[in-house]
Amino acid sequence: MTASTLYVCTTCRSASDGASVDPVRAGARLLSAVQRAAGPDYPDSRIVGVECLSNCSRGCTIAVGAPGKWTYVIGNLDAEQHAADVLAFAHQHSAHDTGVTVWRARPEHIRKNTIARVPPMNPRESS
Ligand code: FES
Repeated sequence: MTASTLYVCTTCRSASDGASVDPVRAGARLLSAVQRAAGPDYPDSRIVGVECLSNCSRGCTIAVGAPGKWTYVIGNLDAEQHAADVLAFAHQHSAHDTGVTVWRARPEHIRKNTIARVPPMNPRESS
């Protein structure tokens, strides 16, 4: 089993960000919420903030991947509502050999807002 990494776009905006005086974008709030929900025992290196996953119109956005596994991109996440769903899916992905977790076992928001899945990179093509 290869542990998976959860990437959280920190530059995603929510509809309310435009009118808000709060300069913290929704994506950055989602990253903080996920880190808080993960707790101190979750390896820091497994939750990574990134700038733009190219799913801007359907943010907030995350991606979950690992060497040798399928990568999933999930969108339409709410910073205040979906941290637990994101973590649950990251745990499921981490525990699965290929990352293709049981569809019915995924949190509902994850099931309904999967933007893309990308096959594992062929090791022979990466050199
Ligand atoms: S700003 Fe988040 S996907 Fe582009």
